[in-house]
Amino acid sequence: MSTGQRKRLGILISGRGSNMAALLQAAKEPSFPAEATLVLSNRADAAGLSYAAGEGVQTAVVDHKPFGRDREAFERAMDARLRAAGVELICLAGFMRLLTPWFVKQWRDRMLNIHPSLLPAFKGLHTHERALETGVRLHGCTVHFVRAEMDDGPIIAQAAVPVLPGDDPDALAARVLKAEHRLYPLALGLVASGQAKAENEHVVFDPPETACKALVLALDAEA
Ligand code: GRF
Repeated sequence: MSTGQRKRLGILISGRGSNMAALLQAAKEPSFPAEATLVLSNRADAAGLSYAAGEGVQTAVVDHKPFGRDREAFERAMDARLRAAGVELICLAGFMRLLTPWFVKQWRDRMLNIHPSLLPAFKGLHTHERALETGVRLHGCTVHFVRAEMDDGPIIAQAAVPVLPGDDPDALAARVLKAEHRLYPLALGLVASGQAKAENEHVVFDPPETACKALVLALDAEA
């Protein structure tokens, strides 16, 4: 099953899967502390599924629709697939279903999410529009452990990018997305290697100097 000490990674997607692709590329490196085990989607038409299959990674679909309003039943089906594949760590990568406290508890401190803002600012959707409306000069993305409350949980890593004159939501989103693709593999690597873990609802780094590795500052316009 596991190759050495590499953690077996499950990635949950609903769509494009560009963050998933960044994680798969990182995990191709034999020295990376996690190996891509399963990509699971709630939508059969998620573009990321064919990319993952092309990379030789096992994929699965658990459609939420047949479960109707029974979110936990849907999650039990997902949980069973993840466990059958021997998944040890989960990365949410554009997975567009709210998770119940039950599922979050099953994977507590073993499930990461990436959110396109510098949390705790701009939880929820339309983060780039809201950053522009608010007039912040720095924007970015955050990788955090998942808790039952949306876009909440101990913060593992953050990337900052500038908001530039003339930015529209698409331009800003593209700059943030580029930073996401750097940040997510980095954060996953720290967690999978045991260098970052949740303790008392904060992330602690071992050794402490590692904390600086969990920051990306992409402050040049072209970075
Ligand atoms: C990303 O912006 C991520 O931060 C958010 O959903 C988007 C997913 O994009 N959670 P992709 O599917 O990874 O391209």
